[in-house]
Amino acid sequence: MATNPVARKNSAIAVRLRGVELLNNPALNKGTAFDEAEREAFGLHGLLPPIVESLDAQCVRAYEAFLLKDSDLERHIYLRQLQDTNEVLFYRLLLEHVEEMLPIVYTPVVALGCEQFSHIYRRPRGLFISYPLREVIPQLLRNHPNSQVDVIVVTDGERILGIGDQGVGGLGIPIGKLSLYSLIGGIHPARTLPIVLDCGTNNEERLNDPEYLGWRHERITGAEYYEFVDMFVRAVKEVLPNTLLQWEDFAGIHARPILDRYRDQLLTFNDDIQGTAAVALGAMISAVRVAGTVLREQEIVFFGAGAASIGVADYLRAALVGEGLSEVEARRRIWMVNRGGLLHDGRAELTAEQRVYAQPLASVAGWTRSSGDAIGLYDVIKNIRATVLIGLSTVTDAFTEPIVREMASKVQRPIIFPLSNPTEKSEAHPEDLIRWTDGRALVATGSPYAPVQFGGRTIPISQCNNVYIFPAVGLALMASRRSGGGAGTQRVTDLMMIAAARALAEQSPALKDISAPLLPPLKNIRADAVEIAFAVAQETERTGDAAAKESLRARIVESQWTPEYPGYIPEIG
Ligand code: NAI
Repeated sequence: MATNPVARKNSAIAVRLRGVELLNNPALNKGTAFDEAEREAFGLHGLLPPIVESLDAQCVRAYEAFLLKDSDLERHIYLRQLQDTNEVLFYRLLLEHVEEMLPIVYTPVVALGCEQFSHIYRRPRGLFISYPLREVIPQLLRNHPNSQVDVIVVTDGERILGIGDQGVGGLGIPIGKLSLYSLIGGIHPARTLPIVLDCGTNNEERLNDPEYLGWRHERITGAEYYEFVDMFVRAVKEVLPNTLLQWEDFAGIHARPILDRYRDQLLTFNDDIQGTAAVALGAMISAVRVAGTVLREQEIVFFGAGAASIGVADYLRAALVGEGLSEVEARRRIWMVNRGGLLHDGRAELTAEQRVYAQPLASVAGWTRSSGDAIGLYDVIKNIRATVLIGLSTVTDAFTEPIVREMASKVQRPIIFPLSNPTEKSEAHPEDLIRWTDGRALVATGSPYAPVQFGGRTIPISQCNNVYIFPAVGLALMASRRSGGGAGTQRVTDLMMIAAARALAEQSPALKDISAPLLPPLKNIRADAVEIAFAVAQETERTGDAAAKESLRARIVESQWTPEYPGYIPEIG
């Protein structure tokens, strides 16, 4: 394993690198911010311009350079290069311009970065675990650049955002996601590890691209695939035990089986499933409160009964049971509609996960139907008093005016979340939802939308962005490790994710001001992450008394890394 060039000594850090080597190390480089004493001690005189600058002054110059770039891809490349040159400056710049830069380092622009990965590749970051090297995975893991790893984000590149199979280019996603763990959760950048499992690719464009950097082979499948994933997990358990392993952008058919197989074996979760569910539940809880009601009184309709809907419904069901409903009562509150219409127990083709949400056929048999045999979305809205409507179907404009007006005729504040991505697949445009409900709808979306003007009011539209949840979960786990004498919490549970959802809802600006957004603004997200992490850690530690809670909160704040330059002294010996 590579030795760590950094060792802490009181407040200053002992560093063994010197000269150009020090400047070339992005984790340690301060560029023009090395002070006179450091320039003397580390042989930097002459290698740097004579002026010593502050981090703030460096940020001004870096932002100027950012603004000079004239496309989103150029801005993405610029920020990635800065990350590979001077990490502290990269994170400070991001922190100062979080709302502007988050979409550049992560979605949606990271999608371009993944597509162009082999063409914009500059320097190595993270690990490539390629199928032909499967017999030596532990050795590959030992080659990781830092001695300690807190969080791994791994993808196999098969279902990258909405752009499908990108092969090895999918590594852009773990890199971007881990940047957010550091920026928001405060996980030290040197303790994060992005990994791509290079299983080949079925993307013809990549396979035919002479510059493609991955294994030029069609994807391995079936038993071969699962054995490869298993070899990887065994190696993680052996080489990096107690590391948080987050699965990201795996194809739907693999995501759930992998999560179910490993969730009780190590500290692991799948953000596409659990993070999405937590943020949607958080937004729903805050909307319900803004509507002046409680979760247990809702009738919730899901349009779409795929992986995402089932994930959200599972957390919602747990939350309803938490509010006193029986398991059966909770299931009866959830109405799911897919291609075949309403899920009911007369439909033999439903999967085991979908059957949980099948309504008794007997109770809907007498409903009026607008057409044919299947009970469509309009029929459900017509026959029940739906208070919440969630779209996770990929069906553009599925929430039509008659559906929305019918719903709004029976409830004062209809809660409507068209969550399908990307923007062109959204089930509705927020402006229409606001107009058709005379400004009464409480709306959150899957993609970002501009505020809507209605009746002299500006109505902000919140985006259900997983960034509210996963960095805080990481922070909670790291703080818990501090208290647990090294190992800390051993599993990521659904109860922890639901606690995160509830804490997110508590941070809703709309609770204090009904014209404010349902979810907090991104500019305060580091502070909100502390509150969410606190709720997650409390779920794991179940601290009772006030003093223990205070100490837990203090540990979380202390664990949150902040981008600033520490002082350096030469390592002796
Ligand atoms: P999926 O393919 O597993 O499920 C889609 C569901 O929609 C299926 O049940 C299907 O039967 C149903 N559907 C499709 N066409 C239909 C039609 N014409 N009428 C009725 N039902 C229809 O997809 P998954 O993974 O559940 O994702 C769904 C959407 O949710 C995607 O757009 C995805 O990008 C989005 N999503 C958004 C997230 C967010 O945070 N905003 C997070 C995760 C997913």
